[in-house]
Amino acid sequence: MTVQESSAVVLRAHRTDLAQRPSSLLEVVPVELPPLREGQVRVENSLQQIIAATGDLMFAHPQLPVPPFRIGESLYGPAIGRVVESRDAALPVGTAVLHMSGWRGHSTLGAAAAFPVPDGVFPGPEYLLNQGVTAYYGMVDVAGVGEGDVVLVSGAAGGVGSMAAQVARARGAARVIGIAGGPDKCRFLVEELGLDAAIDYKSEDLDDRLAELAPEGITVFFDTVGGTQFEAAIRHAASGARFALCGVLAGQVGGGDGGFPRLDIMTALINEIQIRPFSTRQTLDQIQAWNTHYAQWYAEGRITFARTLLDGGLERAINAQDEVLAGLHRGNVVVRLAG
Ligand SMILES: NC(=O)c1ccc[n+]([C@@H]2O[C@H](COP(=O)([O-])OP(=O)(O)OC[C@H]3O[C@@H](n4cnc5c(N)ncnc54)[C@H](OP(=O)(O)O)[C@@H]3O)[C@@H](O)[C@H]2O)c1
Repeated sequence: MTVQESSAVVLRAHRTDLAQRPSSLLEVVPVELPPLREGQVRVENSLQQIIAATGDLMFAHPQLPVPPFRIGESLYGPAIGRVVESRDAALPVGTAVLHMSGWRGHSTLGAAAAFPVPDGVFPGPEYLLNQGVTAYYGMVDVAGVGEGDVVLVSGAAGGVGSMAAQVARARGAARVIGIAGGPDKCRFLVEELGLDAAIDYKSEDLDDRLAELAPEGITVFFDTVGGTQFEAAIRHAASGARFALCGVLAGQVGGGDGGFPRLDIMTALINEIQIRPFSTRQTLDQIQAWNTHYAQWYAEGRITFARTLLDGGLERAINAQDEVLAGLHRGNVVVRLAG
């Protein structure tokens, strides 16, 4: 099948202020598809993952170590679709693939950048649209989580945090405590993800709750939020605690000074807290390590794909980006585009 026209989400202007909703700067436009070159495939996308970092990449000079979006061009991001045209023998028409050239009805990409979705491992292809690579790398390789750890995860109901908390659980942590905004998300953490406890940072006092839930101190902190949650974790860290710093949602999303918490150096040095910021490079090793454990833990019933599935195509994906930043959804957010 030769497809010549499709649609894509393009950036109309750069974001200049965190208060701007991404949807006010994005639009769905019709696009003509280029002829397929040797070694390329055309993919009709059916699922689009929505991640918080997309909001950062809409700034002219984002801090993240990946290319920013350009005005008038399509966004990019993780998506799943089916090959509808192929000029590469390894990826015949009909193959379901995961790739990073999403935010379009159809993507044209080199076959090497499209990864076949394995058959029969998960109930649906959407299970692959998760932030587990970062969660696994941060929890296992950076924090070295293992048996007996008392683990605290901030942003625990979000895409990365929901998987990170479960990785800690699957690795045998003694107690896993999540921080999230609101009673519904806290219930979700305990009742659906099986965490031991959740703290609602919007209505509860972090110090009181941490003193109650981890009287002997936390030994691992996986931080996606920064700001006052980082400061509280320092006060409640056990001797030799390992901190994996993953993100600064309180600054990136909340618009506060989440990226600039005050570090109580005396407490940190007395307790010899190891603070390690990290940036996942999505290397093949990192991807493979996660995929292997995810499949095994899923088969054993030890991990679930924490997600919100939405319908409505590319227009819905644009609004979903606002909603993710506003904290309206839980887990990994995926929009069905078609099929
Ligand atoms: N280091 C790396 O290699 C790497 C890789 C990928 C992602 N990241 C980072 O990891 C973080 C999480 O990414 P994600 O895609 O999983 O995002 P996410 O957690 O799904 O982001 C949305 C969440 O942010 C929370 N939030 C909003 N305002 C907040 C505030 N003022 N204080 C605290 N939380 C607030 C909301 O949760 P509540 O309703 O609970 O407040 C909302 O659900 C981001 O900072 C991202 O850039 C890092």
